[in-house]
Amino acid sequence: MRRYFSIFVYLTLFLVKCDEIEDMCNFLDSKVQPNNFRLLSKSILPGKGNKVKGDAGKIGVIGGSVEYTGAPYFSAITSLKAGADLAYVVTTESAANVIKTYSPDLIVYPYLNSKYASKIRALLPKMDVIVIGPGLGREPETLHLISDIIEDCKNLGKPLVIDADGLYAISKNTTLIKNYPCPGVIMTPNLREANKLMTAVSRNDSNWYSYWGDCVAVLVKGEKDYFYTNMSTYSWIATGGGSERRAGGQGDILSGALGTFYHWALNTEICKNESQIQLAQSVAAYAAAKLTRLSNYKAYVLHGQSMLASDMINQIHPAFESTFSLVKDKNATLG
Ligand SMILES: *[C@@H]1O[C@H](CO)[C@@H](O)[C@H](O)[C@H]1NC(C)=O
Ligand SMILES: *[C@@H]1O[C@H](CO)[C@@H](O)[C@H](O)[C@H]1NC(C)=O
Ligand SMILES: *[C@@H]1O[C@H](CO)[C@@H](O)[C@H](O)[C@H]1NC(C)=O
Ligand SMILES: *[C@@H]1O[C@H](CO)[C@@H](O)[C@H](O)[C@H]1NC(C)=O
Ligand SMILES: *[C@@H]1O[C@H](CO)[C@@H](O)[C@H](O)[C@H]1NC(C)=O
Repeated sequence: MRRYFSIFVYLTLFLVKCDEIEDMCNFLDSKVQPNNFRLLSKSILPGKGNKVKGDAGKIGVIGGSVEYTGAPYFSAITSLKAGADLAYVVTTESAANVIKTYSPDLIVYPYLNSKYASKIRALLPKMDVIVIGPGLGREPETLHLISDIIEDCKNLGKPLVIDADGLYAISKNTTLIKNYPCPGVIMTPNLREANKLMTAVSRNDSNWYSYWGDCVAVLVKGEKDYFYTNMSTYSWIATGGGSERRAGGQGDILSGALGTFYHWALNTEICKNESQIQLAQSVAAYAAAKLTRLSNYKAYVLHGQSMLASDMINQIHPAFESTFSLVKDKNATLG
């Protein structure tokens, strides 16, 4: 008897949860409210009885250089801490061993050199989402190689997250990702980088990002985060969390988390809608922005002005639980 009762309770809870999500899908016609995004982002978590089956993702990070070894590390380790199964880093020979000493959890390939182009090409198919740019630097030879890699990804139809010097490469040659096929690209510029991109495409209207086509979205990071997609109803502004302090490396944390969530969102049929891809991009970016802002806030509460990106990494776990409402946390909805 008791057993039937608990089955009844679980079933009711399950149906209520499905209903909640379905209600939200009905709202997609009007502007999607932040609170709906909160619930939608919960629906992309793999496992635990929802539709996602199989692995939690293999995320590739292509970046790093002799000067910058922290950026690709922060990005890759965050993709793991957010829940991906594997993180690959493709970096220069000069950076590879350094990054390995930071963490035994990462798989690091020292191939970021044109002489290994064919080795990189062979690696790309096994990555679910590829983050391009953290710590890449601006050596002309590197940028040339990155252009070839983006071209390969385009042919493979790999979803991309492009940040930092990857965006510099795009602003130097905007046609690289023009009409990039779905599941597309999410660029994550800060305000300065966003202005550079706007100048590069000579567009100064509110739809400047549509230059690249239907499946290229933009998340502009700053005091507030702005997400833009061709489906304007899926655009949003994220506030809350964050702090006075922006730690160097925070953008890398965002790009790594976004890599993982992008994969999950693409694997979830979030709402039955013909604009699945744009919705998946929007929900993934929302989850990544929220997780990053909350990790920043939590690390700032603990460390104040001394907060560093590594302190934020240590707050990913509690921030994840709050972002996806696995625990009640008033801090998650601040602002
Ligand atoms: C999908 O969402 C878009 C954007 O809100 C809306 O215009 C469209 O009617 C929806 N389509 C379906 C089949 O629900
Ligand atoms: C820019 O990218 C396009 C597409 O990948 C390529 O065909 C073109 O040669 C590139 N232009 C320059 C100046 O590198
Ligand atoms: C866009 O145009 C407005 C007025 O035409 C100008 O004030 C603004 O600086 C321009 N912005 C960019 C990014 O070019
Ligand atoms: C956005 O992209 C989708 C998918 O390619 C397309 O069906 C839709 O027409 C586009 N919407 C706008 C407003 O361009
Ligand atoms: C929320 O923030 C306050 C400080 O503003 C902190 O003391 C508290 O521990 C935080 N709560 C959680 C669950 O992180």
